[in-house]
Amino acid sequence: MEMQRFLRLGLSVFLFIFGFSVISSASDDQSEIKAHNEIHQREIAKANAAVALAKKAVEGDATRLVYHLQPPALWNNDPNGPIYYKGEYHMFYQHNPYGENWGHMHWGHMVSKDLAHWRHLPIALAPSKDKGEDHCFSGCCVIDDKGVPTMLYTSIGPKTPAGDGAVQWAAISHDDMLTWDKHPANPVMTEKLHGDMKVLDWRDPFVFKKGKDWFVVLGGHPKDGRGAAFVYRSKNLVDWEYLNILYQSKAEHNEKNWECPNFFKLGDKYTLIYSPHSRVMYHTGSFNEDFTFTSGNRALLDYSNNFYAPNCLEDAQGRRIMWGWIRDIKGKGWNGAMTLPRIMTMLKDGSLGMKPAPELKELHRNHRIISARKIASTPIYIESIEQCAKEITAVFEPGSADSFGLVIKTIDEKAASVPILFDLKNKTVGIEKNQGPFELLDGETQVKFQLFIDKAVVELYVNDRACCTTVIPALNQSSVIYLTANGGSAMCKSVDIWDMASIW
Ligand code: FRU
Repeated sequence: MEMQRFLRLGLSVFLFIFGFSVISSASDDQSEIKAHNEIHQREIAKANAAVALAKKAVEGDATRLVYHLQPPALWNNDPNGPIYYKGEYHMFYQHNPYGENWGHMHWGHMVSKDLAHWRHLPIALAPSKDKGEDHCFSGCCVIDDKGVPTMLYTSIGPKTPAGDGAVQWAAISHDDMLTWDKHPANPVMTEKLHGDMKVLDWRDPFVFKKGKDWFVVLGGHPKDGRGAAFVYRSKNLVDWEYLNILYQSKAEHNEKNWECPNFFKLGDKYTLIYSPHSRVMYHTGSFNEDFTFTSGNRALLDYSNNFYAPNCLEDAQGRRIMWGWIRDIKGKGWNGAMTLPRIMTMLKDGSLGMKPAPELKELHRNHRIISARKIASTPIYIESIEQCAKEITAVFEPGSADSFGLVIKTIDEKAASVPILFDLKNKTVGIEKNQGPFELLDGETQVKFQLFIDKAVVELYVNDRACCTTVIPALNQSSVIYLTANGGSAMCKSVDIWDMASIW
């Protein structure tokens, strides 16, 4: 009897102490998480203040873009985690709030109700130095199954360097995306997932949902292997299993590494986009049962190196909308921009259609029309485009000319003119040296050049399916644009010109 009482007492004491230590370690965890989140918000406040200070230098700069997305000041690179949420388009982006060059990667944030007018929001993510994080690299944003906005991104630090050992982190928002907490389960993905396979430059998660499961694709390359996209599956966006190499670059393409893969269903096919440290490519094809991708079509997404690391969203109308980073464009106190929103469609032949979002028409002002003319050996002046913000849409019909289109000439006699041509002999289109394939399709008789000029940036769309984003520094000097035809004549059916209003 005594013994039993003694044991009962012992058990109660044990349960009391054990229970207490469970509760107190849970509350230790809670206060550690709270402290971690508070540090994050302090870092964000510091970064916002640094950007606000840098804004003054930017304000007087006449070369700053008018209708392309940019941070309030300083550096940006990749668009990150674009998402349509509660009636608004959110855009995050790689941002250095402390300088005009790459460094201290944070996630900037802006938002739009109509895709035409935007406003800046406070910075969303800052590196958590308290957890060994130096940079928040690129990633994505989705709404989890409980309705919680969730980001997945690549976390880089001294112990988790970009080349070998990067990890993937999550962040969540409880106030409709205004502020973000790092997920307590971080890192949510480590290289352990790959077992014996060593993956280098592992980064840039792009999440999508298929059936009840979440999938993510990440870029990188197997050690001693070519650039690839890797695919994983999860029920909750936190616990992940590695599935397969979704797709790997072929030897003849010599792509050593892939960054920023995007993978999504468009029409009846899947599209895989990646940035191989050179011009951005896409493939269209099928997503197979074994979690591999079969490519039926490989092509350039944009014909210029000034376009890089695109990212995309699907909006409430089911439209796939994409933005790329415009690189090598800088001014006083700023460096970098994003392209206009491009609507992507799957064409019958398995190539991509791309056109500017129709909402951009909201920015049109002061419409001018130039009526039909034949272009022969003498270029026809159409507009001064010095430091301007304009859309110029010209529709042509081929004649005897070998090439036709537009040409930009600067007052500077020594500077070369900039051709923007459809070359019928070589079957290419593009701006200057930035050329890619283009041919008229069966039944197509006209070539539409849609040119978005914003200070030194020219974004060209041809027949809603070929794109070329080019930085032309000479446009910040006196420049004019002409219609031109070489080696014969061509018809220009119409030219429409608009001034473009600011998106801010
Ligand atoms: C692409 C990229 C990504 C990376 C990010 C870092 O431009 O190199 O692969 O996540 O930039 O800023």
